[in-house]
Amino acid sequence: MNSLDFQNLRSAQGRFAAPWYQSRTIILLGPPGAGKGTQAPRIAQQYGLKHLSTGDMLRDNIHRGTDLAKQAAPLIERGELVPDNLMLGMVQERIAQPDCKSGFILDGFPRTIGQARGLEEISSPYKSRATTVLNLVVQPGLLVRRVVNRRICRKSGHIYNLVEHPPTHSGVCDIDGSELIQRDDDKETVVRERIYLYERHTRPLVDYYSAQGLLHEVEAICNPDAVTVSILKVLNTKPPTL
Ligand code: AP5
Repeated sequence: MNSLDFQNLRSAQGRFAAPWYQSRTIILLGPPGAGKGTQAPRIAQQYGLKHLSTGDMLRDNIHRGTDLAKQAAPLIERGELVPDNLMLGMVQERIAQPDCKSGFILDGFPRTIGQARGLEEISSPYKSRATTVLNLVVQPGLLVRRVVNRRICRKSGHIYNLVEHPPTHSGVCDIDGSELIQRDDDKETVVRERIYLYERHTRPLVDYYSAQGLLHEVEAICNPDAVTVSILKVLNTKPPTL
């Protein structure tokens, strides 16, 4: 999105913004490489929501060497899912923090029907919030290429792609100058396992949320700015129940 489009969008939102924009829950679904981590911070910034990536939260636990990390690390390394009870405990604790009071965007959670049901229970104190589920749709053939070429910055997790969105200086983050690294689970064999498990355990959530009338599909094959515009169009539509 060029800066003029972005400003026009923001000023249009400024004119029509209503309180429901701020206090809401957004769930981002999509296979590995769909662009959840690329889009979530943009949406979070636009609506003043907290971006909660369960993958980032787990990697932070691994970095800090917590008890949770001892169980989760070998699973993540193999591309397997961390058990539902651990994920629900971690998310429940996080969404109770004051910085989530105005709403949050969940990136990579829920990932199973069990997690989706659990989320409904742990979110019961926030029932008045509008929930929107966005499913980022990308042809399977693109996913592996995107993920194996991903690099992230060591300091803040800024996301690059060696083919689609390379840094200006090789190996260095444009934003904070820190080193760019490859995630351990971004090796091709592990990526393929993650995609397989997505199809098996997470894809059923598309029907689950569709049946509740919460699901919106967004084509995520064009460039990231165009995908953001499509997402904001969906999110700027007031839910019929409010
Ligand atoms: P997590 O970190 O959540 O990984 P993921 O869901 O597999 O998703 P990715 O981070 O790989 O992809 P993304 O959709 O965010 O894409 P991105 O924007 O980075 O989870 C890691 C692991 O933790 C799991 O495997 C599991 O073990 C565990 N875990 C996490 N949550 C769990 C849960 N709820 N339950 C159980 N276990 C859990 O983009 C990818 C690349 O594509 C980048 O290089 C980017 O620049 C590029 N790109 C993005 N958009 C575009 C575009 N429009 N056009 C071209 N390139 C693009």
